[in-house]
Amino acid sequence: MAVQQEPEESLDQFSYRLGQIVENGLTSLSIAFGVKSGLFDVLVENHHTPMTSQELADAASMKERYVREWLGAMAGARIVLLDPATQRFHIPGQILDAFKKWTPQNKILLSTKSIPFLSEVFNDMLEVVKKEGPIGLPFSKAETFTEYECDSSEWFYKTQLLQVFIPSIPPLQTKLSGGIKMLDVGCGRGVATRILAGQFPRSQFVGIDFGEDNVKIAREFAKNENLTNVEYHNLDAAKLPEEWTCTFDYVFFFNVLHDLARPDLVLKEVKRVMASEALMSALEVIASSDMVDNIKSPGCSKMYTYSLFHCLPVSCNTPGSLGLGTAWGKEAATEFLKEHGFKIESVTQTSRQQFLCSVSPE
Ligand SMILES: C[S@@+](CC[C@H](N)C(=O)[O-])C[C@H]1O[C@@H](n2cnc3c(N)ncnc32)[C@H](O)[C@@H]1O
Repeated sequence: MAVQQEPEESLDQFSYRLGQIVENGLTSLSIAFGVKSGLFDVLVENHHTPMTSQELADAASMKERYVREWLGAMAGARIVLLDPATQRFHIPGQILDAFKKWTPQNKILLSTKSIPFLSEVFNDMLEVVKKEGPIGLPFSKAETFTEYECDSSEWFYKTQLLQVFIPSIPPLQTKLSGGIKMLDVGCGRGVATRILAGQFPRSQFVGIDFGEDNVKIAREFAKNENLTNVEYHNLDAAKLPEEWTCTFDYVFFFNVLHDLARPDLVLKEVKRVMASEALMSALEVIASSDMVDNIKSPGCSKMYTYSLFHCLPVSCNTPGSLGLGTAWGKEAATEFLKEHGFKIESVTQTSRQQFLCSVSPE
């Protein structure tokens, strides 16, 4: 039976709601513009001294005419206040935390950048969706989206990894303190491994990613931080080196399984490189495998939009890809992990769905 979300909604009510959706989308684009251009930074620095559009433009080395238009968008959204008497703008003190790094509100603010980033592949997706069109998008088409993903995962790593996630697995914390070898699959720019390498100097950390730039950036950061217990390799996780067999005590996937073209092959390789008694964590977006359940959640449309414009097409770009999509969900992930030789030790939920696994006995 079809599920209708707004059974009583009239055409007028729908028109109004549709208008709000458009307005919010456009406002979000202007917010992203303020984040990326640095306009918000200047307003935050000067929040005690409201500024005219000319003062803001001068302080930001930008053209006043465009800055004035942006201020109109932000004042209309009541993110910036305009004093009609003085024609000066400021950010109200009580919302300043939203502009401070690592606050939960700042994570939301930064996520507005996903709209321009995802829009870069809008026209490509109009071709990909066609029956005769390309099968997906190469990762190179999604490079700017990586910046958004890094913001988002960095927030998790800086505020949750050592504070919440590692302590939630007591045997892992003990092992990391004593000295183990950990593999981060699809490590991106290596934020997680660098934080862990700094915190657990007796352990060895290996990050792999098939994005060449990611690996280069990860290596540079590790060098700048003088970390000697972390290394990065530009590798496809579906083909790990022979000499890694039975060498890792802990394997970590953060937001990666659903992005893989062949997660089945990757899990096979990961199982091979895990030592006896090793653990594996897969952190995924919180979702049900049933769309009917997902549409009851507030973030549903956002989750499927990320999937449509990024996760799904990049994972589908290889012939034979499984095309899991961001919203493959808890039930499907549980089944998949079991089918591919993993025993689920626990499934927990914080800001992500966390699957803690060991290798099933043959
Ligand atoms: C959503 S990003 C997550 C990055 C990182 N874990 C983080 O939290 O920032 C997924 C990553 O998986 C990498 N990836 C996708 N398929 C891969 C494969 N077959 N082998 C290695 N890395 C892969 C991508 O390059 C990308 O950096």
